[in-house]
Amino acid sequence: MKRWAAIGLWCVSALLIVGATVGVATTGGASGEPPPQPSVEHSGVFRDGAVAADQLEASKAGAEILVAGGNAADAAAATMLALGVLNPASSGFGGGGFALYYCVKEDKLTFLDFRERAPAAATPDMFENFQGATPPGPAASPSQLGGLAAGVPGEPAGIAALVDRFGSMSLSEVIGPALRLAEEGFPVSPTLAAMGAAFKVQLDQDPVMSKWDLAPGAVLRRPSLAHVLRVFAKEGMKALYNGPLGREMAAVVQKHGGIMTFQDLRDYRVVTRKPLEVDLFGYRWVTAPPPSAGGFTMLQSLTILERVVGAKPVYGASLLHTMAESWKGPFVDRQRYFGDPAQIIQPLDRMMSPGRIEKRAALAGGEKANPADAYDFPIVWTSPAARTSDNAGTSHLCVVDVEGNVAAVTTTVNRPFGARFTAAGIVMNDEMDDFASGVGESNAFGLVGGAPNLPGPRKRPVSTMSPTIVFKDGKPVLCVGASGGSRIVTATQQVAMNILLLGMDAGHAVDAPRIHHQGFPEKLRVETMMPLDDSLQDDLRARGHVIEPIRNVANVQAIQIVTEPERRLHAASDPRKGGSPAGH
Ligand code: GLY
Repeated sequence: MKRWAAIGLWCVSALLIVGATVGVATTGGASGEPPPQPSVEHSGVFRDGAVAADQLEASKAGAEILVAGGNAADAAAATMLALGVLNPASSGFGGGGFALYYCVKEDKLTFLDFRERAPAAATPDMFENFQGATPPGPAASPSQLGGLAAGVPGEPAGIAALVDRFGSMSLSEVIGPALRLAEEGFPVSPTLAAMGAAFKVQLDQDPVMSKWDLAPGAVLRRPSLAHVLRVFAKEGMKALYNGPLGREMAAVVQKHGGIMTFQDLRDYRVVTRKPLEVDLFGYRWVTAPPPSAGGFTMLQSLTILERVVGAKPVYGASLLHTMAESWKGPFVDRQRYFGDPAQIIQPLDRMMSPGRIEKRAALAGGEKANPADAYDFPIVWTSPAARTSDNAGTSHLCVVDVEGNVAAVTTTVNRPFGARFTAAGIVMNDEMDDFASGVGESNAFGLVGGAPNLPGPRKRPVSTMSPTIVFKDGKPVLCVGASGGSRIVTATQQVAMNILLLGMDAGHAVDAPRIHHQGFPEKLRVETMMPLDDSLQDDLRARGHVIEPIRNVANVQAIQIVTEPERRLHAASDPRKGGSPAGH
């Protein structure tokens, strides 16, 4: 278990000795020129193992486990647990997620779906017909705040599954770094402080969160979560699903007006799914299947792009225009077809049929922007003022270990601080908002709800989370994924393309400006944090795109696995959320 402990060589400064990707600031980015390359401060190069999380302390927690001899599954679990302590706005035991795991010894990919699911008493009209006062503060609809908003958490079961099925350590070993952080405390990050300020009026209503000092740099200790971690270390997932903590969780959810029962927790199961895989641009892209619509969106977009721009894309307005067009169709499909695959048949083959791709590629390859409903299916749209969410409560991490195992994990409580109450010391998710509140209604991310994604008993809501691993000649070359609501997939795809198709290193690829289009609203989003070159924006406007600036297009973590001339792991965490990678 202590194989690598003697090496003792890890942390960001150590990786810089190996050879950091210190950025060369350049400009440019007009059509045909190389992409803009801002300076890089959030990346590093490692030799043996690397963790890219959206917070340095979490990356270090995973790296500590790698150094102690754990594999990618152990380190991913440790990183998830640490993130749940360090940033309860984004993820934790009260949430859920997806893990895509590549086991090198078996040359096998596994997709674990530990997403939250609706309580058994959920009904399709539970939100549409909700009668009641709206509490003060942001994101206060019943699917976003309070007991009804909370789905049955999957995170504890997901962490236990990752460690039981693929790990080499015990739960009590991987919990070590998170427990230390919860007991000893840690400085509040600027990201957590900003989210705390934005939701303060609601956090102040909760007996646990109201006591937190979320000023930047203030030391936050989490004794009640430390207790849960200790019980989890001893008893595994049953601690939270089938014991006193589970009973307490269900009771508190009900006190907040929810319908989750202890039986819902006892019935919760992780689902193993077959990931989506497609060969494109000389790579095999492996990503999230339904209930994520994200993986499908990326694969259809890449299929269209390969057809329109050819095998060697060149950065510029033409590529950005085609990319924006390529997303419109799959986002329309999402509304029409996507729901929980256990209850709704998703005709993925038909959606990806050559005839349909041909038709969409012909539209996307045109000079001008098309309305989203030109991409085949008219959609119901009753909520033109889509609400947007710049920094959603989600987190993505990548891990690569010395053996070559790879873990891509995206984990979430949905909105920042989920449903904004704690139960058994745990911040509960508001994943019920990823269901359609009503057909044609938009959710927090401006995604239009379709009938297949209405709430229902034990259903899992449609997601955009897209943990992705890309292979070349059978070997993994990239781990990538993002947080940020509906923008998760467009951001993930752009960073992957930057690295694999446009030749950027991981740090610059993550830094580079991104765009986002989701069909509806009919806006091409550009970032204010990482502004797209003015000339590119002018060109896109001339093609008919309505440009809308937003703060950022998601937050991406990536690790590129380079084998020539020697093995190196190029890891990057997104400066938009302030993360840094760690490794050895
Ligand atoms: N809650 C964000 C997602 O699942 O896409």
